[in-house]
Amino acid sequence: MELYHGNFVTSSSIEKLESCTDSYLAVENGVIAGIYPCLPETLRGAPVVELGEDVLIPAFSDLHVHAPQYPQRGLAMDELLHDWLEKHTFPLEARFADLDYARHVYDAFTDEMLARGTMHAVVFGTVHTPATLYLLERMEQKGMLGYVGKVNMDTDSPDSLRESCAGSLAETERFLDACSDSRNVRPILTPRFAPTCTWELLCALGRLTQKYGVGVQTHLVESFWEAAEARRRFPHCSCDTEIYERAGLLDGACVVGAHFIFPSEEDIHILLRHNGFAVQCPDATVSVIAGIMRAGALADRGVRLALGTDLGAGHNLGVYSQVGRAVQLSKLKAFYEPDGNRAISFAQAFYMATRGGGSLFGKVGALEPGYRFDALRLGGLADAYENLSPVQIVERFCYLGDKSHIRARYLAGRRLD
Ligand code: GUN
Ligand code: FE
Repeated sequence: MELYHGNFVTSSSIEKLESCTDSYLAVENGVIAGIYPCLPETLRGAPVVELGEDVLIPAFSDLHVHAPQYPQRGLAMDELLHDWLEKHTFPLEARFADLDYARHVYDAFTDEMLARGTMHAVVFGTVHTPATLYLLERMEQKGMLGYVGKVNMDTDSPDSLRESCAGSLAETERFLDACSDSRNVRPILTPRFAPTCTWELLCALGRLTQKYGVGVQTHLVESFWEAAEARRRFPHCSCDTEIYERAGLLDGACVVGAHFIFPSEEDIHILLRHNGFAVQCPDATVSVIAGIMRAGALADRGVRLALGTDLGAGHNLGVYSQVGRAVQLSKLKAFYEPDGNRAISFAQAFYMATRGGGSLFGKVGALEPGYRFDALRLGGLADAYENLSPVQIVERFCYLGDKSHIRARYLAGRRLD
């Protein structure tokens, strides 16, 4: 049993941030055993970590991130999606045929995610099975919780990445079979998006959903261009989300749709029907996608929302930076398109990055008894001449924090270096 004494902040619901001050949090076997305003008699004698002015918060969950795009973070940010993919991203991803290159990138990517306080993630690899398996194993070794996908794309892609339908399917099965021993980081089907997948491939992947019980991640109603392409290519479907539903891809373990910026009513109904996540990626939508999710309205409709960094379309691998940005974007949306839109609160955005997104992985994303102790100790954010509350410290961190403000990281109760 270990004890932490000081101030803790956690989401208790989508609109409520709670803080416990001068309290004790007990951890046993990596799981939070209890939180107490005073030290219970039975726990006297257990080792105590004194937090002082620092604040303990749950670790973050990134529900949409591209590991192979780590080398291009902060580059080519003046392009829009189509050209950004063709000119920069696809040529970079082609390099992951080289497993040595992939190992270097994926080691750095995984270390940097943890350094920035992300302990749970849903990750795109590339079309390459060996490199993507390496990524999954690396995250598993580090003790993270996650889903990792080998990308599928069998049309309208450069020769260096385009698979045949049969080849894509065979490699996906090879990938799924190879990770059957992985416990905490699981495989997920990853058709890149509607413009690069044939109907034949999507239906074949849909059958794998049934056979293996795996979930799916993709880019969903991502941009005007993508949504129009989806309708043009799949005229028998009324909207982007219906393509995946009809292909049988939404009946597996989970559904994670990145962006969801221009959903029709039907898109929303289908996502709700499958209890899927819509993942807002604020920096990416500003940089290469040029659209803003209706986070307030979707939350009011009961859609499960989370945050993603979408590195490299987003430039910052810290999910905390996306919390502040999500609030900013919701205000722009409500100001320029007031009809049916509302600004979101800091509490809602923080919830999306922690408890909301974390619910995909099990009991993580909150400081509550029964939750895994995946937590961050924040410090160095207060002013000597001002008294900030613990919640204000956390808010400041999400706007101007950096990894240097994360003074300690605890993953399943173990302190990381
Ligand atoms: N749509 C299809 N591929 C991608 C990608 O790699 N990044 C983003 N942001 N959108 C995509
Ligand atoms: Fe993406």
